[in-house]
Amino acid sequence: MQIRVVQGAVAQQADAIVVVGTWANEELPASVAGLIEASDWSGKYKKTTVLYLGAQATGIPAFASRRVLLVGLGKRELWNAERARIIGAVLAQRVRDLGLTSYSLPLLGSEVLGVSRSAEALSEGALLGAYRFDGFKTLPDDFVPAVALEQVTLVAEAELEAAEFGSKWGIALAHGVNLARDLGNNPPIVATPTYLAEAAQTIARDYGMTCLVLDHDQQKELGMGALIGVAKGAAEPAKFIVLEHGQAEPGKPTICLVGKGITFDTGGISIKPADNMDKMKMDMQGAGAVIGTMEAVGRLKLPIHVVALVAATENMPGSNAYKPGDILKAMNGVTIEVLNTDAEGRLVLADALSYAQKYNPDAIIDLATLTGACVVALGSYAAGAMTNNPALLQRVQQAAEGSGDRVWELPLWDEYRRQVRSDIADIKNTGGRNGGAITAGAFLSHFVGDYPWVHLDIAGVAWTEDQPKEYNPKGATGYGVRLLTELLREWSGVSL
Ligand code: BES
Ligand code: MN
Ligand code: ZN
Repeated sequence: MQIRVVQGAVAQQADAIVVVGTWANEELPASVAGLIEASDWSGKYKKTTVLYLGAQATGIPAFASRRVLLVGLGKRELWNAERARIIGAVLAQRVRDLGLTSYSLPLLGSEVLGVSRSAEALSEGALLGAYRFDGFKTLPDDFVPAVALEQVTLVAEAELEAAEFGSKWGIALAHGVNLARDLGNNPPIVATPTYLAEAAQTIARDYGMTCLVLDHDQQKELGMGALIGVAKGAAEPAKFIVLEHGQAEPGKPTICLVGKGITFDTGGISIKPADNMDKMKMDMQGAGAVIGTMEAVGRLKLPIHVVALVAATENMPGSNAYKPGDILKAMNGVTIEVLNTDAEGRLVLADALSYAQKYNPDAIIDLATLTGACVVALGSYAAGAMTNNPALLQRVQQAAEGSGDRVWELPLWDEYRRQVRSDIADIKNTGGRNGGAITAGAFLSHFVGDYPWVHLDIAGVAWTEDQPKEYNPKGATGYGVRLLTELLREWSGVSL
């Protein structure tokens, strides 16, 4: 699907269908006032209706198109970037349901949000809402429209350059998100650690980044005993992936993004129940977010030093698998008693976070589908955020605000760190049921030294079954790409 920006007015677009937006409780715009009874149309948020224009209505000064898609924008005072994104998705889905392949839309709500922000959100919403994972479908499906959208035209009345700039951002973000979704939706037989490494290598090639993929022997040389321990039960080789954009320079921040890359989590010897185990193909969505962010960063050529680190392996109960009772030593020397092999994410992150320290980073941000406890605590509407540095968390919260990827802070008091102390090693990999999301964060805090760090538990937000937001179709959501890219944008001083 292509998105282009043109200057003009939608009424003059001879497209298959053109969009007109109206606010709730306000008069209909003159262009459609004669085409629909005001009592038939309220402008309610997300409502749409199609107007088919006869010959007389298509003459000047009305529409060059034969179809108008009327969309309710809701109350003007509630309009924001998130609403624009959602409307962007609603329109794409509605046009596709009509069996059409292209449409034109004005910069809806730009008088409230500004031209570039509007172009960004509408482009982003369209590409995110149009996403579907259908590469494995070979039979016709009555429930899925057969057509694919080909072209969306954003029509800017003025400020064409700002509109193009914003649209470029939205497109880059959406491609990053959709890449993360693809990585999460692919079956685990496809999306292996090697596949994640190849995705990172492709990005390095496309955007001139450097990519290092460490195999078992190299992991061993570095002392990554925790990652190696988790990988023992798997036949698929584990990969430690380092994807670097830009380089350390005085005055330029260095940010490490760390992703949990468990490409399938059976639980290992502490095996999970069969119900819903298939969902554990998405246990690499931390890695997906980090790799997807690098895609966006590459497209946007952000002037910032970013290092993406992914610890990728399956968690399998093979005959050589690590066992409850084992003690592993992470790269920073900390010893870990394994009480439950299903608490594997924190183990692979232990090595990845230790590795991050060698960049002397200004910030380490990790994303991980880490605990069921976080899903219980926050449901599917926010990631759990934990930190050793309130100022860094504030930056993350600010980026989250605008991006639609929400975060909510959980405390990391010393008591939680005490809860993961071991009798026979330094720490143990579970602290019991109580405060499970937080004790996982407390565990991770042992591997970041004094570096500013934020941990995001994305277990509840990485996957959606019921499509709570129109721009998140069923399956992997790609949560985190928009948050991280927004954070990096703000940090690098680029303004929208
Ligand atoms: N990948 C899971 C967490 C998860 C659960 C992600 C549900 C997405 C949806 C993680 O590896 C795990 O199994 N965590 C355990 C930890 C426990 C054994 C301390 C959990 O949450 O039950
Ligand atoms: Mn697990
Ligand atoms: Zn897991």
